[in-house]
Amino acid sequence: MVARLAARGVSDATVLEVGGGVGAIDIELLKAGAREATVVELSEEYDGAAAELLAENSLRGRVARRHGDFVELERDVDPADVVVMHRVVCCYPDPELLVGAAAGHARRLLALSFPRDTWWVRIGWYTVDAWFRLVYRFASFVHPRERILGAAARMGFTPVHEHSGPLWHVAVLERR
Ligand SMILES: C[S@@+](CC[C@H](N)C(=O)[O-])C[C@H]1O[C@@H](n2cnc3c(N)ncnc32)[C@H](O)[C@@H]1O
Repeated sequence: MVARLAARGVSDATVLEVGGGVGAIDIELLKAGAREATVVELSEEYDGAAAELLAENSLRGRVARRHGDFVELERDVDPADVVVMHRVVCCYPDPELLVGAAAGHARRLLALSFPRDTWWVRIGWYTVDAWFRLVYRFASFVHPRERILGAAARMGFTPVHEHSGPLWHVAVLERR
């Protein structure tokens, strides 16, 4: 994902990473030339590890972290040149809402990764999901690629790169 974004040009770009966890993708994009990044993340529990990673990479002060549901916060979040959601769309029940909000914040590039919608991924995914729903009260979803990319298309984004691994599909999209 980082290599594909870098190939489209991230020099001096601003980055918004939704559901960024420790912010690993931001760090790689900053190392590839991006200027600054913001992470919007539901959980505060990543903050300690995120700060350590930034210090290790001499990037302290280049990443702002905000907490909450991006769909609820989006009006208060500035747009960025590049918006990234790595393994996040599967955490949200409504892909149109989340991807639409993310695409609405992307001036130029949008990068998404999400589980492949194949029968074998669905069987494995929803077996594990049943356990997570029961034990952790946490649900996750395999949304069809068409719904995810359709939401981005309605905001003006066209795929410029896609590839699949055994589980995850990666799409990099550019504003038309
Ligand atoms: C599977 S983790 C992936 C974390 C990181 N992107 C990575 O790949 O390591 C999904 C993350 O998205 C966050 N998340 C899910 N829905 C979100 C939302 N609506 N707004 C902000 N963060 C969200 C979760 O808190 C979680 O940290």
